[in-house]
Amino acid sequence: MNVSKVLLKWYDLNHRDLPWRTTSDPYIIWLSEIILQQTRVDQGLPYFQRFIVKYPSISHLAKAPEEQVMKLWQGLGYYSRARNLHATAKIVDALYSGIFPSDYELIRQLKGVGDYTASAIASIAFGQPRAVVDGNVYRVLSRLFAETTPVDSSAGKKLFAQLAKGLLDHKKPGNFNQAMMELGAMVCKPANPLCDACPLNNQCIAFKENTVLNFPVKEKVTRISPRYFNYLLVRHNKGIYMNKRQPGDIWDQLYELPLIETDSLMQPETIMKSPEWKSYFNKQQFHLKSVKNYPVYKLSHQHIYARLFELDITGKPGKLLISSFIKVEESEAGSYPVPRLIEKILTDHL
Ligand code: ADE
Repeated sequence: MNVSKVLLKWYDLNHRDLPWRTTSDPYIIWLSEIILQQTRVDQGLPYFQRFIVKYPSISHLAKAPEEQVMKLWQGLGYYSRARNLHATAKIVDALYSGIFPSDYELIRQLKGVGDYTASAIASIAFGQPRAVVDGNVYRVLSRLFAETTPVDSSAGKKLFAQLAKGLLDHKKPGNFNQAMMELGAMVCKPANPLCDACPLNNQCIAFKENTVLNFPVKEKVTRISPRYFNYLLVRHNKGIYMNKRQPGDIWDQLYELPLIETDSLMQPETIMKSPEWKSYFNKQQFHLKSVKNYPVYKLSHQHIYARLFELDITGKPGKLLISSFIKVEESEAGSYPVPRLIEKILTDHL
């Protein structure tokens, strides 16, 4: 039997029942695919469910306030996905009367929709013969063909797109694509693949050659940069100060506490003598209640070493903090969209 027939049969019998698999509504498929970019199904599923309840149609999502969408996305990471999701909902609502376009080129032009997502929507929602290639598919194909071209090279991207296209089942492209991804997620896993249970093991060259763990081949090593974040929880009269992050860095436009970032790990005393600290506090009197180091917070390319200074303003607050900081009631702080690290700090201290 050929690869696509075997895969489709395996998928029919083994796929997980997921809410976006019982519909061809393009809104649902699009939403699920945006959530599932860089996110595992078990992590994304509760978010998907909350989004569908709150925004049952793309028009509901289009009309939502941006900060409400960001708040619902909180904890999923890669926040530009949420911003693009909202922007695209507005465009589809305004330009296409809330009806998701079915033409591949129109889908591909939507914000936050690349080749992968456009192919997923076109095939799953509209039955069009477009092959998807995501991390799971790279892994399955590179092992199946023992293909040593690096998946992150431009030659590799072309080659794997061709391989996927060559295998695609034209009658059931949506199921074929999901079967490839499902096999990658459930069986052809990165570190502990379940080769004995794999429906393709008698055709898999890497399995035959006992080299499964050598694939996929990558050209670039992921470099992880350490960052040192000194956060200030500054209290005054049941209020705290928060700051909206600017575009161009992680956590774009999410809220956080006043931050002093340093290039290396520094002693708390050094931080408290820094020009930033002085500019935040001017001559304001404060009482330092605690200094606490948080466990390293790992993002895909950055490790954040966070420290929290907990302070009470004493006396009458003068002109203390820089003007972009906002003062927030402690009881209201939880309603702002914040990164998970800040959510943890706030729940620990408020
Ligand atoms: N990852 C992203 N989209 C997926 C889908 N539709 N099925 C399985 N895994 C996925």
